Amino acid sequence: MTANTRTDDPSVDLDDIGTNPTSNPSFTDLIASRLSRRRLFGLGVGTAGTALLQACGGGGGGSAGFPVLPPAPAPAPAPPAPAPAPSPATPMKLGFNAVAKSLADVVTVPAGYTASVLYRLGDPIAAGVAAYKNDGTDDATTYDRRAGDHHDGMTFFGMSASNKWDAASASRGLLAMNHEAITPLFLHPTGQTITGSGNAAVRTVADEVLREFYLHGVSVVEVSKNGSAWSYKQDSSFNRRVHTLTEMQFSGPAAKTDYLKTKYSTDGSKTRGTLNNCANGTTPWGTYLTCEENWAGYFRRIAATDNPSRSAKEIASFTRYGVASTGRELWATVTPDTADSIYGRWNTQVVGATASDDFRNGSNTYGWVVEIDPFNPSSTPKKRTALGRFGHEGACLGPVLAGKPLVWYMGDDSQNEYLYKFVSTKAWDAADVGGGMAAGDKYMDDGKLYVARFNADGTGNWLELSLGVNGITSGNAAYAFADAADVVVNARLAADVAGATKMDRPEWTAVNPKNGEVYLTLTNNAARTIANTDAANPRYYNDPKGAAQTAQKGNPNGHVIRFADAGGNPAATTFTWDVYLFGARSTASADINLSNLVADNDFSSPDGMWFSQAAPGLLWLETDDGKYTDVTNCMLLGALPGQVGDGAAKTITNVDGATTATQATFVGKAPGTDGLRRFLVGPVDCEITGIAESGDGRALFVNIQHPGENTAKADIADPSKYLSHWPQGGTARPRSATLVITKDDGGLIGL
Ligand code: FEO
Ligand code: CA
Ligand code: CA
Repeated sequence: MTANTRTDDPSVDLDDIGTNPTSNPSFTDLIASRLSRRRLFGLGVGTAGTALLQACGGGGGGSAGFPVLPPAPAPAPAPPAPAPAPSPATPMKLGFNAVAKSLADVVTVPAGYTASVLYRLGDPIAAGVAAYKNDGTDDATTYDRRAGDHHDGMTFFGMSASNKWDAASASRGLLAMNHEAITPLFLHPTGQTITGSGNAAVRTVADEVLREFYLHGVSVVEVSKNGSAWSYKQDSSFNRRVHTLTEMQFSGPAAKTDYLKTKYSTDGSKTRGTLNNCANGTTPWGTYLTCEENWAGYFRRIAATDNPSRSAKEIASFTRYGVASTGRELWATVTPDTADSIYGRWNTQVVGATASDDFRNGSNTYGWVVEIDPFNPSSTPKKRTALGRFGHEGACLGPVLAGKPLVWYMGDDSQNEYLYKFVSTKAWDAADVGGGMAAGDKYMDDGKLYVARFNADGTGNWLELSLGVNGITSGNAAYAFADAADVVVNARLAADVAGATKMDRPEWTAVNPKNGEVYLTLTNNAARTIANTDAANPRYYNDPKGAAQTAQKGNPNGHVIRFADAGGNPAATTFTWDVYLFGARSTASADINLSNLVADNDFSSPDGMWFSQAAPGLLWLETDDGKYTDVTNCMLLGALPGQVGDGAAKTITNVDGATTATQATFVGKAPGTDGLRRFLVGPVDCEITGIAESGDGRALFVNIQHPGENTAKADIADPSKYLSHWPQGGTARPRSATLVITKDDGGLIGL
């Protein structure tokens, strides 16, 4: 999101508040045994049962380019037929003309493509629910059966005629998507009703808050193609909303421990809801992963009054995670509370005698990766605590090999936070395809959590976060870790001790299906200083904005780093890295525009990112920017990246007024317009995020999040002052929405 602000202080962007006080360092050659597609598949059917299934976000863990092997033993359905893909002998080429930068309130795609609106905020997903009036007056009790707000990460799960997961399905599937947050102004007749200010500010209309509870979370909605047109099915029995009131179970090391005990679950086995669901992920057995990002700001905890009731360790944890505010939507302030505490649960202060009497541990119940089985609408989602608690951006599944552990790569999006990966203890067995939540219990509750250190020489280390290793002990002076649950609940503190590299806001991760290399967007970092650049976060500069040339310092435009785990083994504990791409204005100086971007491909603040599975090697890159928005709205770019080490070592000069400093780094080969090209520009004041494709790669699903979100509250009565009216146009309130993009000749998107 671009304006993740607090209700009581709209000037505070929660993404921009770093809470990492440590002094950890802020921060080739190609791997000879890089995995080739042939090698990965060549061992497949009929030998060791090896398969590669890799689709961290958009595809359902496998797709046309990555056949899902049938579970063994037989009876086995035939593997989905691969869709025609470019011949390996023919170099892949971007097959569209670049879209120009734009400030228009429209979606622009290249000639020969059509973008249609598929699924908008408020759209009904159950029989009998009325069309969305979009004026703030829709019945609050219907919102658990409407599309949520702020569409974000999503996955297309192809579905067979017998309603089973079929990754190759080209015409029917379940679209699972996150609804990260809300634009409150457009949800109620005149925005949120609030009285008082500061710590005394309160919400006074319970129905408004109920709407907001429902508008966060996840949608699962059945979509299908009729002719060339895609639509969602309003009365599908698979349609589901998961929101902040949905019951969830805990599993893994923190489940049923003191850290998660609340009045709602006195044994710490469950909680209600998920929120700030940003990027996503998949599993090779066909479930969806939704990731809780900036959850900390939703909880009310006034440190000055709560701290006297807290231990030093609790205060250290709250400080490290930034749990200290009135709550960004003031949900805890509604009175009277209900018998089951649907408002009071957002107050994470000590108010009762014990943890079973209040929600002092409420904020510990958020910050997790949550697994949802989209094919079983009555299943209970699970928060998989083994994957650690932090500001989870996404969870990208690494290459899947039979007999090898499963790996997920995960960013923690706040200033100066870290990159993590989880490696399962159990080895992958393709017989678990379709295994639902039980397969999650097998692979996601037991394993090792690691955090990344990027070394100055272009190598890196995965540092294990387990009790007793890397300084994570009960004797640690900064924080005495008590047990395995303490390590996952306070994963950021463990990563501090281990010596992870502070990054420029780690957002999405993506795995290149051609070679297994992993890409990580580092969106921007206003807290980067000229004195603390490092090889992996090498730039400090000013990016003056607009006619006033307002200073934007640090790393305002972001970059994309990539790495290759050693030996092509995703479970390896070492890697090599370089910086694939640096965001910049094409007009910036050479030490800022290090990737030689030009008018057809310059961008700022990379965030969403995903490799097509139908066209292996094609990367989609999305922006969530507020820095280059004097020139252009946010965008989607298509790219054909090379590999780690295809560029060169370089020493750059950073400038801060009269101060200069040099920084050595590794810069990937400049992409040129053959390797990077703008494909789509969105409407005003939006973020482009979330991306998925149909099983044949002939339909691309893309989310437009929060158009017009910075419209002033004072302007709600005057539609002419709304910053956007997309997608309805006219005088309508803007709505987040899913697009489906098709090529007019029916071809693969982007090629
Ligand atoms: Fe929700 Fe980090 O973007
Ligand atoms: Ca972002
Ligand atoms: Ca994001």
